Amino acid sequence: MPAETAPVAIVTGGARGIGLATALDLSRKGYRIALADLDGPDLAAAVGRVGEGTLALPGDVGAFAAVQEQAATVLARFGRIDVLVNNAGISQPKTLVEISEDEYDRTIAVNLKGCFNWCKAVAPAMLEAGRGRIVNVSSVSANTGGARSAVSKFAYCTAKAGILGMTRALAKELAPAVSVNAVCPGSIETALTSGLIAANREAITGTIPLGRIGTPEDVAVVIAFLATVEPNYLTGEIIDVDGGQWIN
Ligand SMILES: NC(=O)c1ccc[n+]([C@@H]2O[C@H](COP(=O)([O-])OP(=O)(O)OC[C@H]3O[C@@H](n4cnc5c(N)ncnc54)[C@H](O)[C@@H]3O)[C@@H](O)[C@H]2O)c1
Repeated sequence: MPAETAPVAIVTGGARGIGLATALDLSRKGYRIALADLDGPDLAAAVGRVGEGTLALPGDVGAFAAVQEQAATVLARFGRIDVLVNNAGISQPKTLVEISEDEYDRTIAVNLKGCFNWCKAVAPAMLEAGRGRIVNVSSVSANTGGARSAVSKFAYCTAKAGILGMTRALAKELAPAVSVNAVCPGSIETALTSGLIAANREAITGTIPLGRIGTPEDVAVVIAFLATVEPNYLTGEIIDVDGGQWIN
C-alpha cells in the first residue's frame, strides 16, 4: 500500500478499460487511488485489483452534487488531490435523426458535464495546494466527426469536442498551479468497442498506420506521463493516442 503521504489520483470510469489501466499504472507509480464509477461488480473488482487502500466512489459523474460530496470524501480520507483523470464515458450510436432529447442530454451529461463536475469539485483544493494535474479523455472522434462505422455518432463527437475546448480554457484559467491536458484515443479494444472491433477487425486495423488496434495500456501510459512526469512543461495540449489513425 502506498505511504500515507503519497500523492493522490482520482480516476473516473476507473472500473475497467482505459480507466482501470490508468489507475493500475498510477498505483504502480506510488499514487493512492480513488476510483469513481457506477456502483457494481466492476467497481468492486477494480478496487481489489488496484489494491489495499483504494477508495471506491460509486455514483454518476453527471450528478453535480454527488461529485462535490465524493471530492470531499477523497479529501477527508487522503488529505490531498494531486491528479484528476476525467475518463468516464458512454457511447451513443444514434444519429441526429434517430436520437431523442433525453438520449442527447444523457450523452452530454456523462461525457462532457461529468468533466465539468469533477474539474469544479477538485480545482479549489488543487489551487489552494498550488499544484495539480488534470487529464481529460476525449476521442479521435472529436476531430474526425467519427468514422461511418463508429460505435458513436454526432452527440458523442459533440461532447468529446467540447472536452477539447474545456481543456484549452481550463489550462489558461488554472495556470500556473494546475496543468490541464487531454488525450484523444483512437480505436482501443475495451468493453465499449469490443463488438464493433470483433466484427470489423481487419478493416479497422487497415486504417491504423501502426498496424494494430490499441490497448488500454497504450492510452494509460500517455495519461500517466501527463499526470506524473516532472518537470512537465505541457498544458492545454491534446495528444492523439491512435497509432496514427488521424494524422493532422
Ligand atoms: N475504447 C475506445 O476505442 C475509445 C476511443 C476514444 C475514446 N474513448 C474514451 O475513453 C474513455 C474510456 O473508455 P473505455 O473504452 O475504457 O470504455 P469502458 O466502457 O470500458 O469504460 C468506461 C467506464 O466509464 C464508466 N461510466 C460510464 N458511465 C458512467 C457514469 N455516468 N458515471 C461514472 N462512470 C461511468 C463505466 O462504468 C466504465 O467503467 C471514455 O471516455 C471513452 O469515450 C475510448
